[in-house]
Amino acid sequence: MIISEVRPRILVTGGAGYIGAHVCRALDECGYLPVAYDNLSNGHSEAVRWGPLEFGELEDSSRIEAVLRTHRPIAVIHLAGLIAAGDSVVAPAAFYRNNVAGTLNLLEAMHICAINKIVFSSSAGVYGEPEFTPIAEHHPHRPVNPYGATKAMVERILSDYAVAYGLVSVSLRYFNAIGAGPEGDIGEAHRHETHLVPLALDVAAGLRPFIHVFGDDFRTPDGTCIRDYVHVCDLADAHVLALQFLDHNPGASAFNLGSERGASVREVIDAASRVSGSPIPTRIHPRRPGDPAILVADATRAKRVLGWCPGYNCLDAQIASAWSWHERYRRVTSERLTAS
Ligand SMILES: NC(=O)c1ccc[n+]([C@@H]2O[C@H](COP(=O)([O-])OP(=O)(O)OC[C@H]3O[C@@H](n4cnc5c(N)ncnc54)[C@H](O)[C@@H]3O)[C@@H](O)[C@H]2O)c1
Repeated sequence: MIISEVRPRILVTGGAGYIGAHVCRALDECGYLPVAYDNLSNGHSEAVRWGPLEFGELEDSSRIEAVLRTHRPIAVIHLAGLIAAGDSVVAPAAFYRNNVAGTLNLLEAMHICAINKIVFSSSAGVYGEPEFTPIAEHHPHRPVNPYGATKAMVERILSDYAVAYGLVSVSLRYFNAIGAGPEGDIGEAHRHETHLVPLALDVAAGLRPFIHVFGDDFRTPDGTCIRDYVHVCDLADAHVLALQFLDHNPGASAFNLGSERGASVREVIDAASRVSGSPIPTRIHPRRPGDPAILVADATRAKRVLGWCPGYNCLDAQIASAWSWHERYRRVTSERLTAS
């Protein structure tokens, strides 16, 4: 208990969410005390295990300021936000309010409290339709939906704040996060699931009848689109490295985080079927507007500059970690329902 009080604190917005919970664990393992700040709109209080949970909204700047004054974190890791790119097309106001205005509130509270270091969860969505692949950080930003636009705007804000106020930031542009920690205690449980792997595993577990596949006529070997899947524990490790990078590198920096390997939607579904031992029926639909055929990261910079060394290099192993968590989550949830 005494030890936890002297550990340097990091405020983790979105710390009750999928990636945020894994980041909190990685911080704990490296000697930091993560303080999760979350409104639980898409996160879970049970996932906050490595430090306190401060309930609050990004929209509430006085609450953020009060939490910063209470905990005096040395830096902020900012993951909170709305995440479903498809929803952002039909409800852009909510995305700009939450992801952009909410971030401005956070930055203002940090400025008032003299906290000048932030690691920001950006996305491959900043790039839009790729002009070349694999995509390196110098690729132009041409987001094709409001979600990607919010990430690009916040990156721009961080650059402007570096010049004007000396804010030090790292934007981590994740490609597609998958998997779960080896302990099987936290995993991907979005309330409104739109991600391929958890949806495929739901079908394997008999919770959904089939999975929707959007487009089988892309110019790829099997016709389905190709994405770069990076394990959530590898992502979490990169946040700790980014925090250390902030200590010696002023200004605004950005790094891609991806496995540098592409897997098609069909290959992911086949791997999920192999790992779970169950068939996964599909329903083919037309392509979604703005869905690029291939998105694969060039993560050379994160490896070279941050010293990032992702450990999960095999799709089956990545999905197997998600499946172990998925099975445990279903068992615990059904035991809870039976007991209540
Ligand atoms: N999952 C991916 O593959 C992926 C890829 C690229 C970028 N990202 C980014 O990473 C971050 C985390 O993603 P995730 O998959 O863990 O999502 P998530 O929904 O599990 O986590 C986001 C958390 O933020 C909280 N939150 C949302 N709006 C809030 C608000 N206004 N105030 C306070 N808390 C709020 C939610 O309750 C949730 O716990 C997001 O910023 C997302 O855009 C994710």
